[in-house]
Amino acid sequence: MIGFFDSGFGGLTVLKSVVNLLPEYDYLYLGDNARVPYGNRSQNIVYEFTRQAVDFLFKQGCPLVIIACNTASSRALRRIQQEFLPEAYPDRRVLGVIRPAAEAIAERSCRKIGILATEGVITSGIYIEEFKDLDPSIEVFQQACPLLVPIIEAGEKDWEGTDLIISKYLGELFDQDGEIDTILLACTHYPILHENFERQVPLGAAVLDQGPIVAKKLKDYLTRYPALDKKLTKKGKRLFLTTDASEKFDHLARVFYGKPIYSQLISLESF
Ligand code: DGL
Repeated sequence: MIGFFDSGFGGLTVLKSVVNLLPEYDYLYLGDNARVPYGNRSQNIVYEFTRQAVDFLFKQGCPLVIIACNTASSRALRRIQQEFLPEAYPDRRVLGVIRPAAEAIAERSCRKIGILATEGVITSGIYIEEFKDLDPSIEVFQQACPLLVPIIEAGEKDWEGTDLIISKYLGELFDQDGEIDTILLACTHYPILHENFERQVPLGAAVLDQGPIVAKKLKDYLTRYPALDKKLTKKGKRLFLTTDASEKFDHLARVFYGKPIYSQLISLESF
């Protein structure tokens, strides 16, 4: 199976796009809902939680794990690829969501990009680094949105306060530069509020989700690595795991994933 990991529900927005594009594969989703949010936690804690989750998914037999979380991708992916994999699982692969998003944006004609993300992602400066590497002429503006993940995890998309908070964050972003032409929702939770953002961005600015981008990049990746692709089972199975009460997960997960979900409760404590 292809393993998918997020701190909570957010990765389901990515999984949904991936399943649409690559329906034949089997997927195992793990949400660490008991410990969400990761966005304001220290680098070492995010690394340790992410390593546990990746280890768990490998022990379930996943040859490939997608870290469908920007916070975990920015805080833990490099170390997992450079230290944990070579030592513990040299034949497995772990991919994140940041590089694919930056590559896809660099391929578009945008010049001024606004990154909306958790505090952890913004502090890491990883998007600035990626764009400097891919196309230094792209100007990057960043805005942390620490209140959004708790609002989304609480299922408060339609609360009027949500739009007020979005308006504050967009205001702070556009105060940095009024000509930002592309906004990346660089947190896999935020697509749940896509329409709330669309309603408020200045005319002409595009709002991008990572799901469709990651799906397309994953498809390309699997074509380039046929040996890995061969190891992935293709029976159209989907399994969902959570570290918090599974009935609560099923209820909200349906909103993120767009279809009914029946999850199982697991613990990452021994990993
Ligand atoms: N979904 C995660 C991301 O893409 C963030 C959620 C969290 O703060 O735990 O960054």
